[in-house]
Amino acid sequence: MLVEKNVPLQSSNTFGINAKALHLVRVKSEADIAAVMQDPALQAAPKFVLGGGSNIVLTGDVKPLVLKVEIMGKRLVQETVKAWIVEAGAGEDWHELVAWTLQNGYPGLENLALIPGTVGASPVQNIGAYGVELQDRFESLDAVDLTTGKTFTLIAAQCAFGYRDSVFKHASKPGEASGAQALGLKDKALITRVRFLLPKAWKPVLGYADIDKKRLQRKVDVPDALQIYEWVCEIRRAKLPDWKVIGNAGSFFKNPTVSPEQCEDIIQRDPKIVHYQLADGSVKLAAGWLIDACGWKGKSIGNAGVYDKQALVLVNRGGSANPVTGGEVMTLAKAIQTSVYERFGLRLEPEPVVV
Ligand code: EPU
Repeated sequence: MLVEKNVPLQSSNTFGINAKALHLVRVKSEADIAAVMQDPALQAAPKFVLGGGSNIVLTGDVKPLVLKVEIMGKRLVQETVKAWIVEAGAGEDWHELVAWTLQNGYPGLENLALIPGTVGASPVQNIGAYGVELQDRFESLDAVDLTTGKTFTLIAAQCAFGYRDSVFKHASKPGEASGAQALGLKDKALITRVRFLLPKAWKPVLGYADIDKKRLQRKVDVPDALQIYEWVCEIRRAKLPDWKVIGNAGSFFKNPTVSPEQCEDIIQRDPKIVHYQLADGSVKLAAGWLIDACGWKGKSIGNAGVYDKQALVLVNRGGSANPVTGGEVMTLAKAIQTSVYERFGLRLEPEPVVV
């Protein structure tokens, strides 16, 4: 195990922000993390787990020990009459896993194509797109407790999945147990492997406006998994910037959920607001629409900009030569939050982790 010093992170975060890890260990296997946990100084150090860097804003050099997860491997671990169970190392690229499952005849992840990031990060924010969330295809995961070094396995119910949320985004309260018993695992666990349950009774997940538009255009009544995969790739490429060309962290804010009464109040202010009824009676509002309505699309503060085709995405307008800073991103984010609050009385909650 090698502890690297002053490692540049510009190519390890999708915003392309220029910052360094003061100390970094590449975790390529469970043995690497065991070695970290057996070293008394490293074991005691605060730690930051880095995957694909697709959901972070770096506001300066990272002082905690960075554990860069590079555990690889994709395999079918079990086939039953009803389903395939596929396992992937946490360091695998998410989109490559989706493509691999389809190539091997295991459909189910197609709606989640082209989401940037690694497999290990996918349960942390319960990634979702076009009507499917990770939790709908999740079987279990293996992780290492960063306090004790012990490994543990979590099933879906223990991950407390919610909209862009899980047990890995919440801090435990002092005195709580660690590992699988903990209520909050923020900064306390390193996910090593994730398993997905892909039912053989596959049905396309439709009903999302952009996908239905493709069905009409292509005159396909019931698409197969590969068609959905291709459509999702086309939709995302048309609407979302490729971080390799224009740095970004995907949707910057979550879509807020409000009560039907609050929604009525907002509709009074602007009848055109895009909203969706949820099963529990609450209403989800399109944050991109709210930001757009406040006139932010295409605007910038310093090198931080609002993408001109999707107002929910903040972008790095300085490229790699003169990259945006985390401070500029957060200044723009705060200005947007203030506008949306003043006009609609709603507080937008950022999606990425601010480091
Ligand atoms: N809209 C506008 N102006 C904008 C942006 C959006 O009017 O500038 C409107 C759109 O016309 C549409 C509605 O807002 O009617 C929703 O937009 P879109 O379909 O693009 O989806 P979204 O709600 O903005 C969410 C996820 C995306 C995911 C898509 C598809 C969140 C925070 N974002 O975006 O996830 O790909 O749905 O399922 O839930 C991500 O998390 O990084 C991400 C990209």
